[in-house]
Amino acid sequence: MTQRPRITPDQLRSRLWFNNPDDPEMTALYLERYLNYGLTRAELQGGKPIIGIAQTGSDLSPCNRHHVELAKRVRDGITAAGGIPMEIPVHPIQETGKRPTASLDRNLAYLGLVEALHGYPIDGVVLTIGCDKTTPALLMAAATVNIPAIAYSVGPMLNGWHRGERAGSGTAVWRARELLARGEIDEEGFYELVASSAPSVGYCNTMGTASTMNSLAEVLGMQLPGSAAIPAPYRERGQMGHATGRRIVEMVWEDLRPSDILTREAFENAVVACSALGGSTNAPIHLNAVARHAGVALDNDDWQRLGHAVPLLVNLQPAGTYLGEDFYRAGGVPAVLGELMAADLLPHPEAPTVFGTPLSAGAMRSLETDVIRPVVEPLKDEAGFINLSGNLFDSAIMKTSVISPDFRARYLSDPDDPEAFEGTVFVFDGPEHFHAVIDDPALGMGEDAVLVMRGAGPLGYPGAAEVVNMRPPAYLLKRGIPAVPCIGDGRQSGTSGSPSILNASPEAAAGGGLALLRNGDRIRVDLRRGRVDVLLPDEELEARRTALAEAGGYAMPPSQTPWQAIFRDLTGQLAQGMVLDGADGFHDLARKA
Ligand code: FES
Ligand code: MG
Repeated sequence: MTQRPRITPDQLRSRLWFNNPDDPEMTALYLERYLNYGLTRAELQGGKPIIGIAQTGSDLSPCNRHHVELAKRVRDGITAAGGIPMEIPVHPIQETGKRPTASLDRNLAYLGLVEALHGYPIDGVVLTIGCDKTTPALLMAAATVNIPAIAYSVGPMLNGWHRGERAGSGTAVWRARELLARGEIDEEGFYELVASSAPSVGYCNTMGTASTMNSLAEVLGMQLPGSAAIPAPYRERGQMGHATGRRIVEMVWEDLRPSDILTREAFENAVVACSALGGSTNAPIHLNAVARHAGVALDNDDWQRLGHAVPLLVNLQPAGTYLGEDFYRAGGVPAVLGELMAADLLPHPEAPTVFGTPLSAGAMRSLETDVIRPVVEPLKDEAGFINLSGNLFDSAIMKTSVISPDFRARYLSDPDDPEAFEGTVFVFDGPEHFHAVIDDPALGMGEDAVLVMRGAGPLGYPGAAEVVNMRPPAYLLKRGIPAVPCIGDGRQSGTSGSPSILNASPEAAAGGGLALLRNGDRIRVDLRRGRVDVLLPDEELEARRTALAEAGGYAMPPSQTPWQAIFRDLTGQLAQGMVLDGADGFHDLARKA
């Protein structure tokens, strides 16, 4: 490990507030209120780093609530290393509780934390991450302010069990709905099965968006090696909190900042690891956003080029069998890195980490090779995303590895063109419209139906809804058609595994071509060429575009809150990370100040 030059106490950022020799009057004013709950002048003016703990846990945020308890161990670690801990509340983001959607609040929590870190006497920060959007929100803020920062995961819940079988977050809900619909369980049984998947504190125990983003925070080098996968209630989780607290104090003295860690190389590692993890389709949105706030170029073409060919190694639900405790026992993220490195698939093993060692130093081989597979025995080949475009949108992603053999046989069976199919479009303006009409036989859907969800992007359903994975109508299900292709400008839950073309940008509400579609249009999907096109002449599309503009454009529901209105004024599209206009370009605030 190369020793970094160390800063001295008079170079601490917090000195500007608490010990400014040029301005004793302001120093006294800044200081006095932080004494009123028992801190002493000796602590605040003694040359000790002030360490923020960005607290995402609360009663409103059960996935992250355990951080309220874990923060005590983080505090102990900070104090033991000679720092002063200060807990900072973060605007709550609870995936399952927030209406209309938690992703609306990723950028709000980001803005709030940037102001807190920039405007207060904080020398370094521990980012308490967990539930889906908390990880990108906090990494985006750390990248922007660029003070020393270390991420600390709350860890997944224990494995859920139901009648002797693993019951995973989200996937148990899909299963319970099916059983209820088939009359195999009653309402009581439905609640019992769903609750069994959430047996303890922690975040989703499947490889949904939370496990994906927490794992990728470790791959990016922003968490201590081995930290991401430790289940929330395990003793190692608290022990890791103590180590994290100690380490952030050292990082302040070493002046080790997010800009040293969140480099282009780190993001390339994360894209590759995401495929091996079987990561959520939300990962490109969030990682592209973190990269933009870090001043690093990253787009969906990078995801296809770097990630598509990488195999799936992690056998976790929804793509596989196991859950979070199994993942930890098999070695967690270090074992995924070790297996990728053994096959020479990790592009930058020497990328730096918050620990001060290269990423490769923490890697190891899998301890349970059915849970974390070696590259020669993958669960699936080509587990990454492809990036599609055409005359309806500029970018949309698809995970081709979830295409089932049945789906392939029905849609991709033309021997002359095995990666292309044509279908008949049925459009839905938001999830409410879909649920109201999907089972209406008057729609007359055939086996070649392609379901299109629009009005579900960042503007249309403010924040972008997880609704693109649509089921076929009951009359097709009864005929043995379990899935039809879906295309949409919304997102898809990380715990769902249906073959969908997602995150279409620009969305219908931002002038995208999905707004021009009508029931009965023919659409062509060509996976090899990366194209999705409606089979209409340009003049017809132009005429529809003019008619839509004359009718006032694609209709959206009104904003319900001030933030929804502000968000809609400023948000970018999913392909570019749904970043607020004007919010990028501020990276490295701390050193610009
Ligand atoms: Fe919070 Fe899944 S709902 S982690
Ligand atoms: Mg989700």
